[in-house]
Formats: sequence, C-alpha cells, structure tokens
Amino acid sequence: MRCSRGWKNPFWRADRVLDELRRAADVTLEGYQINRLQHGLQSGTRALRDGVDIDWVVGAMLHDIGDGLAPQNHDRMSAEVIRPFVRWEVSWTVEHHGIFQSLYYGHHYGWDRNARDRYRDHPLFDTCAAFCEAWDQSSFDPNYPMEPLETFEPMVREVFGRKAYDPAVIRENEMTGLPVHLGMA
Ligand SMILES: [Fe+2]
Ligand SMILES: [Fe+2]
Repeated sequence: MRCSRGWKNPFWRADRVLDELRRAADVTLEGYQINRLQHGLQSGTRALRDGVDIDWVVGAMLHDIGDGLAPQNHDRMSAEVIRPFVRWEVSWTVEHHGIFQSLYYGHHYGWDRNARDRYRDHPLFDTCAAFCEAWDQSSFDPNYPMEPLETFEPMVREVFGRKAYDPAVIRENEMTGLPVHLGMA
C-alpha cells in the first residue's frame, strides 16, 4: 500500500533517508560509545559549525548511510545515495572517504594506511583528506554536543527534493573546496 511515503509525497526520498538514519540509532559502532546515527549527526554538526554549505553538511551527515547494507563498500554506496542531488565534489569525497580513512586505522587490520596516496594527484585529494580529518575521524566522541536529527531534516528535504542529476546542482569537475582552517593532512 502506498501511503504518505509513496510517490505522491514530494518528500518521499528524504523520508526514506531519514528513516534509514533513525534505524542507524540501533547500531552501536564497534569499539565506540556512540551509534551510527550519532556518528552521522556529529559529522554533520561539525560541518554545520564550520560554516560550509548545505551540500557539505548533508554529505557529512550521510557519509556512512550505506553502512547498514554494505559495510565493506559503504563509502561507494553512500555516495550513490547522494550523487543525484549534491555537487560532484561532495559525492566524490564521500565515495572515497573509506580509502582516506585507512590512514587512521588501516594498520590495525594489516591494510595499507597510505592507500589514499593513489589519489595524490587528484584535485580533490586535499578536500577528501580534510573531510576525513575534520568531520569523520573526529566524530566518535560521546560527549560532543551534537545537533539532533530534527536540525538536519529541512536540509535533507531540500537536497533530496532537488531535480535528480541537474547539471546546475552537480557542477561536474567544479571545486569549491573546504575552508582552509579544517587543515590539510
Ligand atoms: Fe565510513
Ligand atoms: Fe564515518
């Protein structure tokens, strides 16, 4: 039965994303005192407080949304969720954040922690490195005062309410980057 989440509801895409985020509250991150929803909220809150635009904030909050179904390749799955509705640089960064995150924990699993170096010459290398350092890697703190999901709901609705794959939104190969104060690894 199609109800309020059916195709007649202009917010159906956003509702599905928000539902998935709420489910993420049931999953504690192994080795950490926070759950997957809180990790997303904390990443999004840090982005919000760093004064970046809505594409980055939503991208930061949703960077792990694919983790529930595809933990091994969740970076790519998360990127596919947001790709039709955010700037190219944001979906590229989310798509590659897993490789860049290896810097922080890869050695514990016998992985190459410098695997990101294959992208050294990519124009978004510094952006992805900063994204990981400032918003992802730092967002496992149970004491960080993070915004509730309600703060982000209007932003999720705005982004997922856009026309899919609109070139004016995607801005392929354009880079706005991230604020320099986020630091470069
Ligand atoms: Fe991740
Ligand atoms: Fe993450």
